[in-house]
Amino acid sequence: MGTQLISNIGQLITNSDEELGIITDAAIVIDGQKVLWVGSNKEAPAADSTIDANGGVVTPGFVDSHTHAVFAGDRSKDYVARMSGQKYATGGIKTTVAATRAATENDLISHTRELLRKCHSHGTTTVEIKSGYGLNVDTELKILKVAKTFTDETTFLGAHVIPAEYENDRAGYIELVKSEMLDAVVPYSKWIDVFCDNGAFSVDEAREILQSGIAKGLMGRIHGNQLGDTGGAELAIELNLASVDHATHVSNETIAALAESNVVTTFLPGAEFFTKSLYPKVNLYFELGAKVALATDCNPGSSYLTSMPIAMSLAIREMGFTPAQALYAATAGGAAALRRSDIGHLQPGARADLVIWQAPTFEHIAYRLGDIDKKILTTGKF
Ligand code: NIG
Ligand code: FE
Repeated sequence: MGTQLISNIGQLITNSDEELGIITDAAIVIDGQKVLWVGSNKEAPAADSTIDANGGVVTPGFVDSHTHAVFAGDRSKDYVARMSGQKYATGGIKTTVAATRAATENDLISHTRELLRKCHSHGTTTVEIKSGYGLNVDTELKILKVAKTFTDETTFLGAHVIPAEYENDRAGYIELVKSEMLDAVVPYSKWIDVFCDNGAFSVDEAREILQSGIAKGLMGRIHGNQLGDTGGAELAIELNLASVDHATHVSNETIAALAESNVVTTFLPGAEFFTKSLYPKVNLYFELGAKVALATDCNPGSSYLTSMPIAMSLAIREMGFTPAQALYAATAGGAAALRRSDIGHLQPGARADLVIWQAPTFEHIAYRLGDIDKKILTTGKF
């Protein structure tokens, strides 16, 4: 495809530092796969073709490091119940499990494609996808095969909840997850995740499951502290997991320990929004220098959200992020949560995943809920 110059950029967000590494009056040269050069518009080298950014903003594409985008069925009744004040609990997951078990692989592929197109249209260029709506060997495998057709960031979440048929045999289900199910999905999975919370799995169960996945070559991440201060964040530190996700209920001591660790805390404000729950506050995380990410948690039961700009706006409005912190968390933060150094920034060598926004400053992204004319360039499969 040759080299491509994007010229006349009002603000180029390189993420070379946590202040977003902004270059004003900038240009960038890519070759369709990688960033080759960034700098001042006046000094831009020649390229095979040019896109005029018209004074707009260029950001890295969003890295949505937490979704459950492969599912079937309808959970709108759950949404109505939450809005009328009924508390979120893990029971609703079973509705989606039944529908996902019944769906064909082709149905799941077309539904996921539609959903990911929406994610992409909002500026997402990397997406992580979890299983967890199968909870038997065949369906977990089916979901991960589908997920793998769209992204390499696939996560085995067989330990989402205990399925109905194992209600009286927790140990039997955990054994299945750790052995036959894990062996079946390993070729299609990069990560292993456990929902460690009230109504799902205990810390000891989560440790056991994560360790068996890690022993088989997967990397670990965890759903923790969404419904209570239940120990998932502490386990993430103990096992040096890439990320603890949700983190709605975390003590100040644990926030301090997270800041000292390599674990990224991934906030999912869509989940608080769609379940009408209290949002966590992030001031202490930033004061102590903890690594944080923002993601959509896209799923039918607790966060039917495909837009990273809306996640950013919620994080700013409700959690105490500044617009700059939210943008960094939605790009570089997501990359860190996936332990990737080739995405989430736009320095030479990075993947050529970027968004050209027709807006004067980056604050407009959250300010206008992402509803801005844009052009998205990606190396991903959308
Ligand atoms: O991330 N917390 C666990 N799992 C999903 C919700 C799943 C559902 O309710 O369908 C989440 O919020
Ligand atoms: Fe989730």
